Amino acid sequence: MDSKERILVIDDELIPRYSIQQVLKDRYTVFTAAGGAEGLNFMAHTPADLVVLDVKMPDMDGIAVLKELKKMYPATEVVLLTAYASIESARSAVRLGALDYLIKPFDKTDVLNVVERGLHKKRAHETVRVERDSLLDKNKYLEEQIARARENIMMCYDGTVKALILAIDAKDHYTSDHSENVSRLSSLIAESLGMPKDIRDELSQAALIHDIGKIGVDEAILRKKGALTAEELVELRKHPEIGARIVSAVPFLEKTSQIILYHHEVYDGSGYPEGLRGEEIPLPVRIISIADAIDAMKHDRPYRNRLPMGSIMQELRNGAGSQFDPFIVDLIFKRKILEK
Ligand SMILES: [Fe+2]
Repeated sequence: MDSKERILVIDDELIPRYSIQQVLKDRYTVFTAAGGAEGLNFMAHTPADLVVLDVKMPDMDGIAVLKELKKMYPATEVVLLTAYASIESARSAVRLGALDYLIKPFDKTDVLNVVERGLHKKRAHETVRVERDSLLDKNKYLEEQIARARENIMMCYDGTVKALILAIDAKDHYTSDHSENVSRLSSLIAESLGMPKDIRDELSQAALIHDIGKIGVDEAILRKKGALTAEELVELRKHPEIGARIVSAVPFLEKTSQIILYHHEVYDGSGYPEGLRGEEIPLPVRIISIADAIDAMKHDRPYRNRLPMGSIMQELRNGAGSQFDPFIVDLIFKRKILEK
């Protein structure tokens, strides 16, 4: 295959067409066309690297041909041929993307120089294009790798959370179902508060495993019907700290450890383990506490029967400002979250 660069000379006059072909034919593969339409037709089949184009042609004005060439073959360089009389159009053609112009009668060296300059520019562009394409390919490959790695990590995250939920379930079936409900309800509240999705996801994940510490509590205490003794209560109340310790060992669950640690803090400061009050209690915890209480009231527990919805609503109203964050209670009623 001919590896020489390809030049197309478009000129309606035979003499300049022929003489340019003669000047260039030793270095390049030169084709000729006797008019704009013929030249464009040739380009459609075999695009040239550079076009030498006459400005004044009867069938199609050189400027119109230039515009078409630059639109269809932006990488092809165009050098214009002009008589001295048309020099202004040639100058304006440079603004339209032509490389340069040659004034008839032209000098052989000028022709060779301008063509070589045009091809050099095209080669440089080609090199940049190839490098850019290769970088884009590499970038695409890396993005795919990152997406796959992220997917794997997310699967590991999900797997870890599921394993923790199964661990709670094995110990206390109520707790695992309850955690699912608390997670769903917490998400609804967080959404109504306009919390961003990543924070909501973190919150619902924390809600799912908030009672994970119960795997460190004696089953007899968890399942005991009737009131707990003071000692048993102390034992049960260790579960937030146990849970926080468990999740703090898992890097991506670190952020949930604080929520788990404080999930039994109460708005008026009567909770445990630290007796935090009001806004000292992290907002996700204030959300989960309410969701936790609502779901507990909706189900039978070893120590009491489930409450009807009317009583749950009354309990929430009574507890606003003491047991619960009054702003969130208000939001639950305003947005009818209990009905969802
Ligand atoms: Fe708990």
